Amino acid sequence: EDVTVFSATRTPTDAFSSCMRLFSTDIDGTIYDGPESADLFADFWTSLRERESPPLLVYNTGRELDDALSLIETTTLPVPDYLICGVGTVIFHPEKQSRLEAWNEHLAREWDFDIVWGTVIEQQKARPQPASCQNPHKCSWFWEDADTEEIRELVDLIADRGVRAQAIYSSNRDLDFLPVRANKGNAVSWLGREVGVAAEEIVVAGDSGNDSSMYAVEGARGVLVSNAEAALVEATRKVSPFRASQPCAAGVIQGLKHHLNGGDTG
Ligand code: GLC
Ligand code: MG
Repeated sequence: EDVTVFSATRTPTDAFSSCMRLFSTDIDGTIYDGPESADLFADFWTSLRERESPPLLVYNTGRELDDALSLIETTTLPVPDYLICGVGTVIFHPEKQSRLEAWNEHLAREWDFDIVWGTVIEQQKARPQPASCQNPHKCSWFWEDADTEEIRELVDLIADRGVRAQAIYSSNRDLDFLPVRANKGNAVSWLGREVGVAAEEIVVAGDSGNDSSMYAVEGARGVLVSNAEAALVEATRKVSPFRASQPCAAGVIQGLKHHLNGGDTG
């Protein structure tokens, strides 16, 4: 009697890696807080890139494009496949050295920077962040211990003037106004559709308030580093992301290993 033996054509690790085709990670406090964290993340990511079909690496940061590019250039952080900047308001393709302009066309609807700026100035509570932290689709302020009701009132006042803005509060200090269609989560979902990656194949990681929208991407899986701020832990509770016991890059690596193993290990 002939016995047919079916043996696997790929190793378990290859099969598991197909669970994650895109990793969207915040930079500061998540994979980077100095040279050691950059080295740690770079070594791990380089080993993933040696696999047969490596996942796409997407940095998803609050920094502006120039600032993010110079950080990448001056550290050992690997060059990503895509770079989302300004809290989901700019999407850049480093290899082509070009922005995905269609994203900004999509954001321009019902948005007017000057109206947002003028409305927040009138209220006299928040101080503008430096010009280097503003962009046409991101209007950013400093406001320590802001009152959420007062932020909500501002968003309503802005809406009365015809602008559909969202406010994102991070680190108990940073307040960003963006078009409703923007934010880190919306940007990475849009990018996923552009490159043909399903939400279920996306893993996200972050540490502060402006990261919360990434965990809200339906189907995506999350990693929270141990240094994540309480407000983010609270905001993501219902989607139960993997909570690393380690901070920053070490925690991200724990989380990636967990998700690469189909969510079975910690
Ligand atoms: C980054 C940006 C800043 C923003 C903050 C929170 O620090 O530079 O403009 O307010 O992230 O999103
Ligand atoms: Mg951060």
